[in-house]
Order: sequence, then structure tokens, then C-alpha cells
Amino acid sequence: MTAPESEGITLRRAVCPGSFDPITNGHLDIIQRGLSVFDDVTVAILVNADKKPLFSVEERVEIIREAYKGEPRIKVDTFSGLLVDYAERIGVAVIVRGLRAISDFEYEFQMALMNRRLNPRIETVFMMPAEGYSYLSSRLVKEVFQLGGRVSELVPPVVEKRLREKYGAAPAAADTRRRRAR
Ligand code: PNS
Repeated sequence: MTAPESEGITLRRAVCPGSFDPITNGHLDIIQRGLSVFDDVTVAILVNADKKPLFSVEERVEIIREAYKGEPRIKVDTFSGLLVDYAERIGVAVIVRGLRAISDFEYEFQMALMNRRLNPRIETVFMMPAEGYSYLSSRLVKEVFQLGGRVSELVPPVVEKRLREKYGAAPAAADTRRRRAR
């Protein structure tokens, strides 16, 4: 696979794959770090028929496009099947993944080595998010929001808006406010 050329300059491109259900500030942090090393980053959402996501793939594409409105170096796409086949198909040789904590390591290590075995031309690069995001996950964001906790510092504004639309405002937070007002 050869890197694409633009006006004589070789473009370094990467793919940042994931479920992004929904995208969090931790993901944005990793993608931003990716942009500091690569010319463009494709955010690739896995289409996984086995999982029951909160946001449909179409919604996740819209959300990420909105979060990156006006950022020409970010592309948003979906894929199914093997990640390395997708990367090869779009001509990208680097996978960027975030490593939040030691607990991520084993899973990520297995995936990186399996991907290398499947296609040795594709390299995985790990990036560490800002410490403040080391505990952040899409699953916790959904749980915290559903139970009425604040997520505004954990997700981009478009995600908070979509969560509100999905759950019809955070029910537990509304209850707490009502109780306090009495
Ligand atoms: O955000 P996630 O759920 O941790 O992302 C996991 C993802 C999408 C990167 C991973 O499940 C994946 O690459 N799936 C595609 C299928 C594949 O290539 N499997 C073999 C790699 S070990």
C-alpha cells in the first residue's frame, strides 16, 4: 500500500476505529492527538449486528460529523468485517487506539497482534488520553446520564443534546430538582 500524494507531499493517514456509542471527550482527545501526528484521521464506526447500541450507526455518523464540523482533516465512515481489510481498502496503514489504563492493555494488545497477524502492513499506534479521561467510557456516560448525573464535561455538546432527545431529559436529575424545590 502506498501513501496518497497531494501536490508532491506524502499524506500520513490514520484510522481511529470504534463503537463510539456515543463518542466521548476521551475519544475526541485521542483523535486530536492523532491529528497532531497524521495529516488526516478517519473515524470509523463499526457496524456490529450483534450489539444493541443506544445510537444507530446513522445517528453516530451524524453526531461525529457535527462534533467535527469545519475540520477538513477528519473523515467519518462506517465499516463491517475485519478492520484491517477496511484499512487496506481505504489505503490507510495506521490504526490509532487509545489506552486509558492498564486494564485496556490486554484487550488492545490482543487486537493489535491479531490485526498484525491478519495484515502485517497495517500498524497499530497507541495514544494515551489526558489523565482526566482515563476513567471515561461510553458505557459510563450513558449510565450516568440515565441516572441523572452531569455529563457536560465528558461529552461534546451534540452528544448531550442527543442523549436528552433519546432519554427525554435525564429523569433522575429532573426528580432531584423537583424534590429540592419542595
Ligand atoms: O470502541 P470499541 O468497541 O472498543 O472498538 C472495537 C473495534 C471496533 C476496534 C474492534 O471490535 C474491531 O476492530 N472490530 C472489527 C472486527 C475485527 O477486525 N476483528 C478482528 C480484530 S482482533
